[in-house]
Order: sequence, then C-alpha cells, then structure tokens
Amino acid sequence: MLMWTFLGRPECILYLSSALSVMALINRDQLPRLNQSHLTPLMLVTRRVGLKVEGSQFTLEGFPFRIISGTIDYFRIFRQHWRISLRKMYAGGFNTLTTHVPWNLHEPGVGQFHFTENLDLIAFITMASEEGLWVILCPGPYIGSDLDLGGLPSWLLKDPKMKLRTTYKGFTRAMNRYFDHLVPKIAQFQYGKGGPIIAVQIENEYGSYYMDKKYMAYVKTALVSRGISELLMTADDGLNLRKGHLKNVLATVHMKNIKRETYEELKSIQGRSPILMMVYTAKSFDTWGALRNFGDPQMLMKDVKEMFPLGFSFNFYMFHGGTNFGFIGGAQSSNGYLPVVTSYDYCALLTESGAYTPEYRVFQEFFHFVTDAPTIIPPKFARMVAYTPLTVLYFMTLWEVLPHLEEPMKSGKPISMEQLPLNQGNGQSFGYTLYETTIVRGGLLTSKGHIQDRGQVFLDNNYIGVLDHYNDELLIVKNTSKKGQSLRILVENQGRLSSGQDINKERKGLTGDIYLNKTPLRKFTIYSLEMKNAFIQTKLPKLPESWKTVTGHVLGPAFFLSHLRVGDPPQGTYIKVKGWGKGVIFINGQILGRYWTIGPQEALYVPHPWLHPGVNEIMMFEELKGSQKIYFSEKPELGH
Ligand SMILES: *[C@@H]1O[C@H](CO)[C@@H](O)[C@H](O)[C@H]1NC(C)=O
Repeated sequence: MLMWTFLGRPECILYLSSALSVMALINRDQLPRLNQSHLTPLMLVTRRVGLKVEGSQFTLEGFPFRIISGTIDYFRIFRQHWRISLRKMYAGGFNTLTTHVPWNLHEPGVGQFHFTENLDLIAFITMASEEGLWVILCPGPYIGSDLDLGGLPSWLLKDPKMKLRTTYKGFTRAMNRYFDHLVPKIAQFQYGKGGPIIAVQIENEYGSYYMDKKYMAYVKTALVSRGISELLMTADDGLNLRKGHLKNVLATVHMKNIKRETYEELKSIQGRSPILMMVYTAKSFDTWGALRNFGDPQMLMKDVKEMFPLGFSFNFYMFHGGTNFGFIGGAQSSNGYLPVVTSYDYCALLTESGAYTPEYRVFQEFFHFVTDAPTIIPPKFARMVAYTPLTVLYFMTLWEVLPHLEEPMKSGKPISMEQLPLNQGNGQSFGYTLYETTIVRGGLLTSKGHIQDRGQVFLDNNYIGVLDHYNDELLIVKNTSKKGQSLRILVENQGRLSSGQDINKERKGLTGDIYLNKTPLRKFTIYSLEMKNAFIQTKLPKLPESWKTVTGHVLGPAFFLSHLRVGDPPQGTYIKVKGWGKGVIFINGQILGRYWTIGPQEALYVPHPWLHPGVNEIMMFEELKGSQKIYFSEKPELGH
C-alpha cells in the first residue's frame, strides 16, 4: 500500500513525511476499509460528525475509532522541536495528541496575553494536524500538569479571599476574561470547522478538589457558550470519578495501573460507554531531594496489552515530557513540600532532548501489530554532545548587583511576592525576593512558617543559615562592637503547589511576620529578583565593569559568567552541575532552569536552538558556593 525507501543501515533510513504518505490515501471509497485508528486529519475531507460515543466505542465520522493518544505540552518543548516530536508520535503508531493550555504563561499579567513563539498554541495544533494527529485539548482553566499553581496565574492570589477553581466572583471574572480571549481562537480548530480538535477536557481532576459543586457546570457553559461544540470530557482518578463527573459529559480516568474496580465504577456512573484512560502513566515526576522515580516498562506494556482487547482508548502521559524551563515547575505536598525538578522527563517515550527510549520501540512495535497502521520509519534523532569543560572566568556577588536593580521597595511589614507593587499591579510570580532590615541585637529568629519556600539568612553579607519548610528557627549571634547589623533573607519561591485545596493558601516570599526574640521584624527594604530574561540582558553590568576574576571557590549568592564556543550547526548538550551548589542557569541571557546539588537531577538539558555558532554566554546564579569549572554531558543524568 505504501512505499518506503530503505537504504540499509538504520541511520540511513529515509523518512517520508506522513503528510505525503497520507495524501495517497485520500480516497473516500477506501475510508471504511482503513483501520479504525488511522483516520487522520489529512484523510478526512468531509466533516459531518466528530468524535461520538456510541455504545461502548467511539466513532469518528461514523467509523469506529480508538484513541491512541500521547501528551506533549508545547510549553515544555522548544518550538523548533515541536514538529519532530509530533512526527515521532505519529510514527510510533499514535493517532492523537493531548495538550494542556497553561493560563499562567498565556496571561502572565491581567489582560496581558501571549500566544506567540513557544506559546503559539495554534501553530502547535496546526502542526499536529499536518503530522496526521487529532488533538484532545485541555484548556483548563486549571490544568494541574505539575506546574506552579497547576497553571493558574499567581496574580489571582493577590486577592486574600481568592477561592481558586470555584464560582467565587474574583475567580470567574478572571476566567471569563481569559476564556473570551482563548476559546474563540481554539473553537476555529475544532473537527467540525475542519480542524484537528476532536475533544475538549473540562478542567482537570476536579473530583479530588471539589470545593464548589456548581463550578464544573460553570466551566462547561463557559466553553460551550464560546463555541466549543466537540465531545466534552472530564478526567479524574479512580476514587474521585463520581465527584468530578458531569451529566452528559464523558467521564475519563487517570490511573497508574489498570484496576477493574475503576472501570466498573465508571460503568456504574455513566452506563455503557467507551473507556478512555486520559492519563496513563509509567511513573511520576521527580522532586528535589528525593530519589529518582523509575518506571517499569514491563508493567506498562502488560497493562497496554490488557487494555487493547478490552477496547480501551488511552492517552500516554507523557509521550515527550520535556523541561520545566525557568521557574514553571510546581510542587507537591504529600509528606512535606516537594518541589518538582527541572527535567520533566517523566519516563516519557522520548527523553527530554527527544531521543527514543527502548519503550518507544516497544510501543511502536505493538501499535503497528495491533492496528494495521502504516509502518513509518521515525525520523533520526539529532545527536547531543559533551563540550570540553569550561573554566569559569568572572563573578559578581548579589550584593554588588543590588545597586543596578530597580529601586527597592520600602515596607514596615513584610510583603509577599504576590502582593508586591510590581509588574503593573500583578505582583511577582517567580524567582527570588530579598528582604533586608537592620537589627540591633541578636537572639532567636523564628519564621513561624512565613518563609515560602527557602530563605537564606545573611548577617552583614555573611551567610548564617537557612529557614525553610523544615527549619523555622535560627540563632543570630550579633557582633557586639557594631551598633546595627544588616539582616537579609533571600527567599526563593521553589514552585507553588500544583494540586490540592492548599493551593488557595499559597503565597511566596515572606508571607507574614518574622520574629526576633518574639518581636516582629519591621522596616524592610525589599528587592525583587525575578530573574527575568530582561534583567539578565539589560540590568546586569556588561563585562568587564564590576565583574571580578574567579580565583578559588567564590561564595554565593553570586552570578558567574563563562563562555562556551560552539561549532556550526550548534549541538544540544547537558550542563552538569557537579561542583556547584544551588541556583539557576542562563544561556545567552535566557533562563534555562533550576539546579540543586541534592539531586536527583545532575545535569540540565540545553536545547540546541538556545545556542548559536561562535561564543555563547553561560551564566549561573549560584546561591551557595561557585565552582571554577562547568562540565558537560551528551546524555541525561537524572539521578539514581
Ligand atoms: C565585629 O565588628 C568589628 C568592627 O566592625 C570587627 O572588627 C570584628 O572583626 C567583628 N567581629 C566579628 C566576630 O565578626
């Protein structure tokens, strides 16, 4: 049926674009004979009826259809890699892409909308369709996805009474404004309009939150009234299916292992219906300071093999996990506060850099065996490289940088990041805030849980300790021959919780009074250190002004600068953080993400489009102690 050019060695296999292959199949007479799972957006010229529930199966344009989906979140993959990832998905035998829409990135400040570059959702959806994939869209407003505040904008928290994910006016007003902007854009790309969107998920795992019985119906109406007309679904874990479910909306399941009770529960809720495992996952994300989570591919395949004969549809989470670039990662709150690491590899079928995993091959083989999908040779993987170790040349301490920042704010009491009078009233979403005051006596400093999340304490620029979720007391020994001493607390927002009712309590920075011998500290000077790209590019002094040469180990917090020479074309790499303590990395003035010696992640992925031929600037904001070298790796080092 299809001709594939094959030149012997695997690395020489020519890949014909799926678009080309599918063109040959646009013949409506043939459609009924095509495999049910391989009706692609490129084949269907006539659009009458989209995805429908008929008895225990889905139909698309009236033909039985089984959803074989994978999740790729466009904001975690560099835009230049979108197409190749989608192509790999199609070649793996998948027919549908699931993607989530992060409100906090699309509307970082009230009414400031961003839908371009790496946030060009429409370009991503269009690309999926060009590559032969249908789309299930999760427009939120809450998406979870292990993001900071589950993808909700932090400016919502300026309102002390905010009730996120409810019909509280302050929330619905903001949501309606966002949906007025978002929904008409996506509505045009629905199946019925000739686009690839075959289904839309309402919210995410609401059953586990369930603070307002009326909320889900409200979100449904908000979508439908703005033009969403394709199949609607809800998605919940097995225990919360009933609570998250809405009448006349298909309930789908999130789960790690197949459980008979769960799909029986599903049946008892909605009768005979197709079963869609909306999050089918091998493992979980990693968190700082914990051991790495490993998936069990054997287990995974066993479950998939069980799902197939039962007629299940599913979405594999993640197909390509990508990276929590910058500060977008959230945190989890089971057994303490656990911030998510920078890599969002998630035991996905493609690694962070898009390399195939052995599991990809297993899935591909299986899908081609059980569906008679055309065998497509997946595209080659662009090699990564370990550059020669770099010598770190220059540094500048944070204290030396302070005079170059915007005027600090003055406040009697501490102010949380969200409440800071910044960014046209939107507060500070991410990064660090430095709180400074003067003390005239020593004693016991107590934070009473008001340091969110991690505060390094300095007395006259000397590090004296850390206050965080686990430590809330620190003894301050004052120098008696000085009258006053400066006390500084550098507070890092390590990521807001991404789920649970406690998201309503999330405030970062100093969220209340800090006491010295039971007296609350007052008269703060507050510096916002959001570490935005513009700050690195324009506020930091240029070389050689103010920069000093690194000799020996320099104590943080400080910025370290080094230069990496790269050939043409640039190749991606991993920066190893061996020898460094904790901080963030910037490549050519763009924030890459967090690193921390406690692991498990030991190297940060640098996509090749971030590099250019010639000299590239690598800057590290190191909080603890700098190293004199930067090492590279050609493979991920996600820990043990
Ligand atoms: C205390 O301050 C004095 C005066 O600035 C200084 O000479 C001395 O070294 C300080 N002592 C300590 C223990 O830091």
